[in-house]
Amino acid sequence: MLATMKDVLLDAEKRQIAVGAFNAPNLQTLHAILRAAESLAEPVILMHAEVHEEMGLCTMEEIAPILLRAAERSAVPVCVHLDHGTDLDYVKRGLALGFTSVMYDGSALSPAENTKNTRIAVEAAKKTGASVEAEIGSMGAREGGVQDDESIYTDPELAKKFVEETGIDALACAFGTVHGFYRREPKLDMARLSRIRELTGGFPLVMHGGSGVSHADYREVIRRGVRKINYYTYMSRAGAAAISGKEYKQFQDALFDAENAMMEDVKTAMSVFTGK
Ligand code: 13P
Repeated sequence: MLATMKDVLLDAEKRQIAVGAFNAPNLQTLHAILRAAESLAEPVILMHAEVHEEMGLCTMEEIAPILLRAAERSAVPVCVHLDHGTDLDYVKRGLALGFTSVMYDGSALSPAENTKNTRIAVEAAKKTGASVEAEIGSMGAREGGVQDDESIYTDPELAKKFVEETGIDALACAFGTVHGFYRREPKLDMARLSRIRELTGGFPLVMHGGSGVSHADYREVIRRGVRKINYYTYMSRAGAAAISGKEYKQFQDALFDAENAMMEDVKTAMSVFTGK
């Protein structure tokens, strides 16, 4: 069934777990994610990322109706989320298409400008009933950051002010994760994460760059208040590994092998996120 991010985060808070949020830029990734979520009977977040549009995978207009229909028909609560919308008009287009949650990413702007734009996104989302995630600090890679660059980590005091002034539903914070592959093992600033959670009054926090983080660190960030974990790179890598070096006579056979491998990878990640 279709759910908002607020719905699934409330459940996650009650159970002290994190909801898995996975990018679904085509049918195989979508099927892999839903099969994993349904087999675990767990809520899930399907995401469309602006960056996948730039890569030529799919446009928001193409994928949104497919994700929404699949969410409506699913046996588990499914939120359909727009990941990293850096442009307010793009976010508004997503809301008009029916995304039940959007991320406005103004992390490259000054805190004042980020706050101003995030408030516009929150007002726009109120009209459709969608939830809003926003980011302060910068995660790196997508935003051009470098692993271990503490100068771009989320400032807990600024995070408190940002949450109070914007009316968002979830806060993405930077504390040592980056998007894509890590150059070396990630070293997460757990104390910073706890301080953000404390100053924001137990606000639901989001960890981007979930691929490559150890299972022990997943458990630790969840214990410290992360309620949504974004994950795609390792799922995509699992799909690629399943078909590399093999010969196929039919295109769909490669798709099925990749889908099954991605399903297993998502299931493993979700099992850790939910403590199953
Ligand atoms: P990974 O690249 O680590 O899978 O993270 C994906 C993500 O954070 C999307 O927003």
